[in-house]
Amino acid sequence: MASRFNLIVVLSLCLSLCLFPTPTASLQQNYYANICPNVENIVRDAVKKKFNQTFVTVPATIRLFFHDCFVQGCDASVIIASTASNTAEKDNPDNLSLAGDGFDTVIKAKAAVDTVPSCTNKVSCADILAMATRDVIALSGGPSFAVELGRLDGLVSTAASVNGKLPQPTFNLNQLNALFAANGLSQADMIALSAAHTVGFSHCSKFANRIYNFSTQNPVDPTLNKTYATQLQGICPQNVDPRIAINMDPNTPQIFDNMYFKNLKQHMGLFTSDEVLFTDPRSKPTVDAWASSSTNFQKAFVTAITKMGRVGVKTGSNGNIRRDCAVFN
Ligand code: HEM
Ligand SMILES: *[C@@H]1O[C@H](CO)[C@@H](O)[C@H](O)[C@H]1NC(C)=O
Ligand SMILES: *[C@@H]1O[C@H](CO)[C@@H](O)[C@H](O)[C@H]1NC(C)=O
Ligand SMILES: *[C@@H]1O[C@H](CO)[C@@H](O)[C@H](O)[C@H]1NC(C)=O
Ligand SMILES: *[C@@H]1O[C@H](CO)[C@@H](O)[C@H](O)[C@H]1NC(C)=O
Repeated sequence: MASRFNLIVVLSLCLSLCLFPTPTASLQQNYYANICPNVENIVRDAVKKKFNQTFVTVPATIRLFFHDCFVQGCDASVIIASTASNTAEKDNPDNLSLAGDGFDTVIKAKAAVDTVPSCTNKVSCADILAMATRDVIALSGGPSFAVELGRLDGLVSTAASVNGKLPQPTFNLNQLNALFAANGLSQADMIALSAAHTVGFSHCSKFANRIYNFSTQNPVDPTLNKTYATQLQGICPQNVDPRIAINMDPNTPQIFDNMYFKNLKQHMGLFTSDEVLFTDPRSKPTVDAWASSSTNFQKAFVTAITKMGRVGVKTGSNGNIRRDCAVFN
């Protein structure tokens, strides 16, 4: 009886640990305490310097972290530059035009870390991107939070690996939920993370389908606020210069706040993927709640970005610490 009981215990332990391994086991706060104790201050200073030069640092870094995590895990594979023999992730047409300042932020912070002898090549590019993302959020008025560290840098980066991994602005709620669930993120996490669109820019092409019906030349999307649609048409005429980009949050574009949800309630979600969060009755209550409580939004956002930072973390022989974030060792 006793041994049968043990077997059952072992089996149920194995059921929870073997079938549902926590990929997060290796991440922890203060991971570098004994290796490079001052790393978080060094990164924060470098990020501040870059932030002082251009606000684009904020959205560019946040989006870079998101894309990194969703394509092959948070392993800095998105930072790898293409070579003659390998087209890297960042050069997939679906890289959705990542702004260069995100890459530059990580490269500058890495250089600052490496000038301290005990830290040289001891801190992964993936962790520097996670720290920099935490820092730009706080610098722009968002929540301050402790960041989990201990990621290694990935050994693979291919343009093909991006296909199907990133959400499209035309997605409906089912499509958004499915893609985020594939990364271990709930609908609430997805809604909280979408609020990153409270900062940053979008090119006109990403929402042109909502303000022009290409066959009738009239505004199409009946869910879009009419006043807002007219404003968008003014900034983004048809055949506009493809480099023109507009603030995604027209009210407080440089503050990481809950204005995103207030905008959604005015039918001012820029993409279909934003708008559906308010028009779909399954997600609307969450939008209402976070539009009226900045505190609850911030809590949910910190939970969600911490979970996102655990996606596909590389450990052991699946990774290393890159000497140059843009080049494999
Ligand atoms: C929910 C599904 C999402 C979709 C469909 C989506 C789509 C997009 C699109 C189309 C753009 C404009 C890109 C351009 O024209 O250059 C954009 C920008 C941006 N996205 Fe998302 N996104 C999503 C979720 C997220 C998440 C989870 C984050 C981060 C937590 C994020 C952060 C950003 C930021 C910060 C920008 C501005 C980038 C800049 O100004 O350089 N997005 N997104
Ligand atoms: C950023 O700019 C402010 C004011 O212009 C200055 O006081 C601060 O020292 C700068 N910080 C860094 C890290 O460059
Ligand atoms: C994104 O991909 C396009 C081509 O598909 C490329 O021209 C562009 O440089 C890439 N952007 C970045 C930041 O790598
Ligand atoms: C554009 O308008 C036409 C005529 O009203 C309609 O048949 C078509 O479905 C619309 N296209 C889109 C993308 O909504
Ligand atoms: C459209 O936006 C304006 C503010 O820009 C707001 O006053 C109005 O109520 C909004 N309309 C709808 C239908 O949400």
